[in-house]
Amino acid sequence: MEHTISIKSQAERKVTDTKSLPFGKIPTEHMFIAEYKNGEWQNAQVVPFHDLTLSPLALCLHYGQTVFEGMKAFVMEDGRLNIFRMDKHYDRFTKSLQRMCMPLVPQRLFKDAIHQLVKLDSDWVPREADGSLYIRPFMIATEDRIGVKVSDEYLFMVVCSPAFQYYTKPLKVKVETTYVRAADGGTGNAKCGGNYGGAFYPTQLAREAGYDQVLWTDSVHNEFIEESGTMNAMFFIDNVLVTPQLSGTILDGVTRDSLLTIANAKGITVEERQISYNELIDAFEAGKRVEAFGAGTAAVVAPIEIIAIGHKEYKCYIEPDAMMYQLQKELLNIRKGIIADTNKWNYII
Ligand code: COI
Repeated sequence: MEHTISIKSQAERKVTDTKSLPFGKIPTEHMFIAEYKNGEWQNAQVVPFHDLTLSPLALCLHYGQTVFEGMKAFVMEDGRLNIFRMDKHYDRFTKSLQRMCMPLVPQRLFKDAIHQLVKLDSDWVPREADGSLYIRPFMIATEDRIGVKVSDEYLFMVVCSPAFQYYTKPLKVKVETTYVRAADGGTGNAKCGGNYGGAFYPTQLAREAGYDQVLWTDSVHNEFIEESGTMNAMFFIDNVLVTPQLSGTILDGVTRDSLLTIANAKGITVEERQISYNELIDAFEAGKRVEAFGAGTAAVVAPIEIIAIGHKEYKCYIEPDAMMYQLQKELLNIRKGIIADTNKWNYII
C-alpha cells in the first residue's frame, strides 16, 4: 500500500550550534511520525518536533516493546546530502521488529520518511569535517493496556540531531566477566531498548573503577569478546583485522560491515572469529602490535587505548599510523563523495 506523507513545516527554531553539547541533546526542527492502528500504518506526517502524549498504560512503558536504529546523513564535498546505507539499516530494523513481535514498516515508507525529514531539516546537517546528522528511526508500542501482551498499536517515528565526535579521546575499557550483555537465544542481535538499559549498571560500575566502557564477554565462558559498550569490537593484531563473528548475541553493525568491506578491498587480512581475552593477553605479552577499537554509527571508529583484563592493564597502539585510522578515513571519504562509492552505500538526496 502506498503511503502519502503530509508535511507541516514551521520555520521557528533556528539551527543551533550544537558542537559543544552532549551527543543527541538538541533535536532538529521537525520529526516524522506515523501510527499503526487496525492493522495498518496511517497518518504519516513530517511535523514540527514536539512532545508525545501517551497513556500511562502504554505497553512500551512497561514491557520494553521498543526498537530503534541509528543512521547518519552527511554533506558531501559537492554540497549534496548523503544518507549512508539506508538499505542495510532498514534490513536490521526489520529483523529487530520481527524479534520483538512488532509490525514491519514498508521499505518505501521508511526511506520516504527519512528522505523528507532530512531534506526539510537539511540546514541542520553540520558542514564541518567531523560533523553529520544523526538519524534515529524508532518504534514504540502504544496500546493502553497494562496486561502483558503484544501491543496492537504503535508509533513509528524519526528524529534527528546534529552529531560530532561521540568520544573525544581514546577509551579505557574493562573486560567484563561478571555481567553479560546477551546470551544465545536472547535479543542481543536486535536493536531493542532493553539491551541498552540492561547494560547501564555494569557500565556504571566500570566508570566508577575509572573506565569509559566495558568489553563484553560471552555468557557461557565469560572469555570470548562480544562488543564494546554500544559498539562492535575490532582489533588489529600484527596488522590482521580480527573481530567476533556475527552471532545471535552481537549486533550486525553497519559500521562494522563497512569497515570489513573496506579492509577486504584493501587486501588486509580479515578474520571474523571468536577471540578470547587470553588471546589478547598472549598478543600483548608477546610484544605484538595490538590496535583495538569500537565501531558504531554514532562512534564511527573509537580508538581504545587501555584494556583492563583482571587486575592488569594493557596498552594498545593508537599512534597516528595505526591501521584503524586508514579504515576510518576511507569510510569518511566514501561518505563525503571524495572517493568512489563502489558498493553503492550512499543515498543521495
Ligand atoms: C549507534 O551507534 O547508532 C547506536 O545506536 C549506539 C548508541 C548511540 C545508542
